[in-house]
Amino acid sequence: MFRPLARLLRLPNKLAFAGLVRGMAGQVQLGCVSALLRCGALATLGRFVRVEEIARTTGLTDIDMLRSLCELGVRRGVLRRQGDRYRAKSALARALAADPTGPMASMVHEVTTYHLDVLRQLPERLRGAPPADHLAEFGPVVAKSSRIMDHWLRGWIERLLATRRVRSVLDLGCGSGAMLACVAAIDPALHGLGLDLDEAVVADARSLLAQQGLLGRFDVRAGDLRDCDAWPARAYDLVTANQNVYYFDADERTELWRRAREHLTDGGCLSIVSAMAGGPMSDYFDLILGSTTGCLPLPTVEQVESELQSAGLCVVRKERLIPGDTVYGLAAETTC
Ligand SMILES: C[S@@+](CC[C@H](N)C(=O)[O-])C[C@H]1O[C@@H](n2cnc3c(N)ncnc32)[C@H](O)[C@@H]1O
Repeated sequence: MFRPLARLLRLPNKLAFAGLVRGMAGQVQLGCVSALLRCGALATLGRFVRVEEIARTTGLTDIDMLRSLCELGVRRGVLRRQGDRYRAKSALARALAADPTGPMASMVHEVTTYHLDVLRQLPERLRGAPPADHLAEFGPVVAKSSRIMDHWLRGWIERLLATRRVRSVLDLGCGSGAMLACVAAIDPALHGLGLDLDEAVVADARSLLAQQGLLGRFDVRAGDLRDCDAWPARAYDLVTANQNVYYFDADERTELWRRAREHLTDGGCLSIVSAMAGGPMSDYFDLILGSTTGCLPLPTVEQVESELQSAGLCVVRKERLIPGDTVYGLAAETTC
């Protein structure tokens, strides 16, 4: 007992070693959750199941490796074992077992695949390699993981709708279509349109709206917001742009806000929700965005406010949506 401890105390770079182990522990734990999730096993682990049953349900064939993964999960506090059966244990594993295709699952997927690719390629990127087209593969994952913000986004939209009469909504870069479904639930008289660049994302959004019986009241179309032909011919009471400011540079954004302004009815409102520069995670996301074709670093909230002003809009409401972070809601109108 004391000899191993004494040997440990003589270890050179003890603190560095401890830092390495601590860092690896987080990565191993998340990697284990991600592997269980993406192979389909986690969806079966809402109750105690044998490895053979997991394999039968999911079509996995390497039983020994699956058992090793489950044992790793037990040692890392992800799973609980009772005899030869396993069940999700940590709060994250239980949440993902209950909802293996939801926003949290997509965020785990995004962080352990797309983000790891970016970090792996970062030295080449820093030596001048161009950004990579990660969104060709991960576009639908990102559109879904963005829904991790639903709670704050919904609160913001509810507060906006409580103070104005809105009958029609245009959602720019609508992603999963969840925002349209959210406004549809708030007011059954509302109708609207979502626009998104990514055809696969548009298909997912249409299918979400169809599942909820909303296609007809709401539509989703593919199109590039930088192309004026992609915009509808009519005006809307509310135009929303959620979590997509980093797809455009400052000039493109100003042009986007100007076009949004032209698509507002009298007394209409443009609402923007986004993480902005300066928050605890924004430097990290800037590395991810800066390594992805078609994405740019996050602007500061002051930059976006000034772009709105240049587009002839006046910010009438500004809220920091998450305490301690720089996720903002901005509402702008044509008159102050
Ligand atoms: C991070 S997702 C956010 C989705 C949704 N607004 C939300 O809050 O959940 C950004 C979306 O903007 C879309 N997008 C990016 N650039 C675009 C462009 N130029 N025109 C239309 N959509 C675009 C992407 O395809 C993606 O679905």
